[in-house]
Parts: sequence; structure tokens; C-alpha cells
Amino acid sequence: MAGVRARSREEKGGLSPVKLIGISGSPSSRSKTLAAVETAVRHAAERHPAVEAEVLSLVDYDLVFCDGRDPSLYEGDTRRVIDKVVEADALVVGTPIYRATYTGILKNLFDLLPNDALLGKPVGLVATAGSDHHYLAIEHELKPLVGFFQAHALPGAVYAKNEHFDGGELVDRGVIRELEKLAEAVVAFCERQRGPLVGASAPTIERRTPFETGEGES
Ligand SMILES: Cc1cc2nc3c(=O)[nH]c(=O)nc-3n(C[C@H](O)[C@H](O)[C@H](O)COP(=O)(O)O)c2cc1C
Repeated sequence: MAGVRARSREEKGGLSPVKLIGISGSPSSRSKTLAAVETAVRHAAERHPAVEAEVLSLVDYDLVFCDGRDPSLYEGDTRRVIDKVVEADALVVGTPIYRATYTGILKNLFDLLPNDALLGKPVGLVATAGSDHHYLAIEHELKPLVGFFQAHALPGAVYAKNEHFDGGELVDRGVIRELEKLAEAVVAFCERQRGPLVGASAPTIERRTPFETGEGES
């Protein structure tokens, strides 16, 4: 996986900016999730001069489906998005709840990433939904996904519902405030840490295509 390994802020040089990436995993072009992620990331950038912020709306990128190849071999938009995530110090990841979990395009992004892309990084989680029913998808679906990457899902994820929006615009003051607090926590984690915070090593999971294992041959 040469060329795609994440480097810590320390490796990049002491007082480098905090690169904060917001990701919206909605396939919808008028997305409430995007509005929520933008609210959090904008707040972080406005309050903290050290923050270099960018929001990626996955619907704007032509990501190929993950096929198991080494992540360094992807090209085009797929390559660009992988590189942005790898280079990020911190993330705010948002998804609409689809069928009680995160969306397929968000899962595909996580499948495309190298295993160490999020190692030790803070991740603020945001979900939008039509109902209260799937609040625990944050705990049971999103946190294990982030956990695979040995990233830190921050406590205090935000769950916003349709009624918190008006014509696609996030209007609920309480939800806006919670998103701002989430953004503050993500930045604070980076500023208190001189690099990613990692515990014990996880077992290595090799990435091999069906053709490399012989399963794809007739
Ligand atoms: C295919 C599909 C599945 C959905 N599944 C759920 C669900 O299981 N639970 C829920 O509360 N809302 C569900 N919703 C509603 C969306 O989560 C909600 O409208 C969300 O805010 C859409 O976000 P977006 O505007 O960023 O795309 C679903 C919507 C779609 C289109």
C-alpha cells in the first residue's frame, strides 16, 4: 500500500494545520446530511484558524465499486477521494439512515480505503433520518465501521431528523448547537494529541482479489 499510508501531524511537521474532512454519504443531490456535515465543518473552520477544512459530498464523485485491489491502484475520482481521506487528520462523517444503517455509497468508500487510512484519528459521526427508530444505528453500525479502522468515534454523535430541516436547510437551533459541539470535540482531540492515538495493533487483514486467490478463475 505504498503511497497511501496516513502520516501524522507530527510527521508532517510540528505545527501543521489540522486537516479536517467532512464526508456526506448521501446519494441525494439536495441532501440534509450534507447540510448537517457542512454546519459542523464550517463551525470548526470559522472558530479555529489552524483548521483547513473541506467537505466531500460523495454524490459529486465518480467512485468505482471496491473490487479488492490494492487501494494504491485506484485512479481518477476514486484515487482523489482516497488520498483526501488518508491525508486528513480528523473527520466528520455523515450518512442518511437507509434501511436502518448507513448508505451503500458510504460503505463503498470505507471499502476502498487502505486499512490504516483512519488509524488513531478522531471521527465525529452524524446521521440524518426520517424517524427516531434508527438512532442506535450510530452505536451498532457506524461505530463498529469506524472501529475497524482503529479510529476514535467521538462520544456525542448527532442524529437529525427531517423535522429539523426546512427546504433542505438545517433550522433546528438545538441540532445546530450539537453539531458545533461535535466539531469542537473533533478539533480539540487533534490539538491535544501530537499525532494519532493508537492502542494495541490489530491483526493484519490481507487484501486479495478473487483472481489472486484463484477463486475468480473458471
Ligand atoms: C432508501 C431509503 C431508505 C431509508 N431508510 C430509513 C430508515 O431505515 N429509517 C429512517 O428513519 N429513515 C429512513 N430514510 C429516510 C432518510 O434517512 C432521511 O430522509 C434522510 O434525512 C435523507 O438524507 P439526505 O437528504 O441527506 O439524503 C430512508 C430514505 C431512503 C431514500
